[in-house]
Amino acid sequence: MNAAILGTGHSYPEGILTNADLEKIVETSDEWITSRTGIKQRRKAAPGEYTSQFAARASQEAIKRAGIDPNEIDLILCATVTPDQILPSTACLIQAQLGANKAAAMDIVAACSGFLYGLSIANPMIRCGQVKYALVIGAELLTRYVDYTDRSTCVLFGDGAGAAILGPVEEGRGILAARIRSDGRYEEQLYAPGGGTKAGFTAETIARGDHFFKMKGNEVFKVAVRSMAEISRGVLCEAGLKTEDIDLFIPHQANQRITDAVSNALNVDESKVFSNIAQHGNTSSASIPIGLDECVESGRVKKDDVILMASFGGGFTWGAVAMRW
Ligand code: UT7
Repeated sequence: MNAAILGTGHSYPEGILTNADLEKIVETSDEWITSRTGIKQRRKAAPGEYTSQFAARASQEAIKRAGIDPNEIDLILCATVTPDQILPSTACLIQAQLGANKAAAMDIVAACSGFLYGLSIANPMIRCGQVKYALVIGAELLTRYVDYTDRSTCVLFGDGAGAAILGPVEEGRGILAARIRSDGRYEEQLYAPGGGTKAGFTAETIARGDHFFKMKGNEVFKVAVRSMAEISRGVLCEAGLKTEDIDLFIPHQANQRITDAVSNALNVDESKVFSNIAQHGNTSSASIPIGLDECVESGRVKKDDVILMASFGGGFTWGAVAMRW
């Protein structure tokens, strides 16, 4: 047996933050943001909204499309770095909202690579029969941890959630190869140091903004391009595929220039590369499942298509998955 995605869903908050809005908050311009990142706007959750709500909506859609009952789900993996609360996991909170009462649920903290980590973990569990149906989610309210005085990060991030139901199919279809990697030596390239046991929430750490995301964008950019291209090549090789076999490439949406550089390095034609960064910015773990669902909804992905997904994020973490739809 192989594991395949049987249904997808996504959900966004209604609030929109445009580049023009940001021009009023920090010293930036639509021209700079568009030319350096490709981003025109991003979604922003309203006060009172929280991560699991969007994750549950995306999951309900995925469950419906897969044609299963929530009680048939054995495993719920929620990739997020912006959980509802410290305890219990956001996956458990989603489980309760779905009524998926027979599942084991836990969160994955792998930043932007979290969804591909989730697929990579669920894949062998389905293949060996331990799990029949798994719900894998990427869900983030990143705008809650954005420092709106730091123009180098605040223009990048947005909110949203995407979900996928994985289940068994005959060999030759579904996930053909999956690889994940990380390197903790790069912690301080992209991190939020406050709020844990090392520098908990105190008046001092909050005043210092330790809970906000900090990034050395330039450094991250270079490693991201190299790592995403390298791991994608490995996954294609393992799956016995060539670049020409790819019908659709869905990279993590971090920066249009990263997407272009990775696509060029892999020699994937522009027409096969998915991008929604203009509308949604960087939604971390949510960007790939949202992208996949948008492709399903628009009819861009068809039966037997070969899809390559690749990601890179804080940790550093990175990964790639190749599948036949
Ligand atoms: O999703 C997880 C992984 N994340 C990523 O992969 C993100 C990777 N990094 C990036 O996408 C890019 O590095 C950024 C978009 C974050 C920055 O773009 P860049 O082309 O690398 O710009 P830079 O950091 O080298 O900054 C160039 C200039 C600087 O000014 P000086 O020092 O040359 O005078 C910045 O201060 O642009 C300035 N700058 C801005 N100017 C207007 C930085 N942010 C802004 C801004 N508006 N928002």
